[in-house]
Amino acid sequence: MRVSRRYRFCASHRLRAAALPESDNARIYGKCSNPHGHGHDYLLEVSAEGPVDCFTGRVLNLASLDVLVRRAVLETFDHRNLNLEIPEFSEAPPTSENLARLIWRRLVEDWGQVFPAGPRLARIRLEETRRNSFEIMEEE
Ligand code: NI
Repeated sequence: MRVSRRYRFCASHRLRAAALPESDNARIYGKCSNPHGHGHDYLLEVSAEGPVDCFTGRVLNLASLDVLVRRAVLETFDHRNLNLEIPEFSEAPPTSENLARLIWRRLVEDWGQVFPAGPRLARIRLEETRRNSFEIMEEE
């Protein structure tokens, strides 16, 4: 069974590829590359997959997932300027594609300590706006 839980965090960014001249950044990212940045209320959905435990009737302990997501994701990204405060985005543009990949890697790093016997991290979905969302699944 797949179980999903939602989290929210706010962060600001400016889409900008450091290697490109400003005119290219303006052309590629449009208003998302305005010099002083802008913010998003990100919605992160984390999905775990595994059997339903016959004693607890649960796939996972949601409180444990909360601890993991808080430590690996929310404490790092919430109310941050992604360009200035997240080293990975000093050069790479903080697009939601790149942010989703970073969140995935951070969750994978800690997952086994919190859930050594399963379930597995099956998917994350990062919603940047009501129109844009970005998913990563285990097989990628
Ligand atoms: Ni944006």
